[in-house]
Amino acid sequence: MTAIQRIILSTAVGTALALFAFGCGEPSDAPTPPKTAERAPAPPSNEAPAPPPAPPAPAKNPDTPPSESAAVQADVKAGKADYQLYCASCHGETGEGDGPVAQALNPKPARHNDGAYMNPLTDDYFFKVIKFGGASVGKSPMMAPLGLSDQQIHNVIAFMRSLAEPPYQP
Ligand code: HEC
Repeated sequence: MTAIQRIILSTAVGTALALFAFGCGEPSDAPTPPKTAERAPAPPSNEAPAPPPAPPAPAKNPDTPPSESAAVQADVKAGKADYQLYCASCHGETGEGDGPVAQALNPKPARHNDGAYMNPLTDDYFFKVIKFGGASVGKSPMMAPLGLSDQQIHNVIAFMRSLAEPPYQP
């Protein structure tokens, strides 16, 4: 054995001893695992396969509320789209009452962004006006029933409420 070999060997032995000592020291520091865990019975080999993981919960999409709540939950975004389509020609895109058709009307379309006027009025009242027309509440027949679904009407009312200044407090 050459001197170099001896050095390498003693280094290796020393390292091994150090590792051994370190390895032996460790369990006394770590908590002893409970004995019962070691005796836990192994699962029988003929056990039924584990059930497949539950399917992931459907992603929540604010634009499409679940059907149970669809009847009551208003969708402001959808309401805005319908408002631009059906109402803005008279009431204006921002509810200012300044749509292109408004000039020809008398009385003028209501200003839906006027919180002082609109906030005290109820959703039920708006629903009636929008569903059955202005004449149904003694208002101008120029405010015509436009054939929106109940859901669309709820959405549009929610959008109208969002325009109010001062803001609408339900
Ligand atoms: C053809 C024009 C026209 C269109 C389109 C129209 N409106 Fe009107 N709307 C009017 C006029 C005019 C009045 C005012 C009636 C009055 O003061 O007698 C009115 C009044 C109202 C009122 C009653 C406010 C109040 O003073 O009590 C509500 C609510 C309303 N509109 C909502 C809507 C919504 C929502 C839409 C769209 C779905 C719509 N309107 C579309 C002309 C229109």
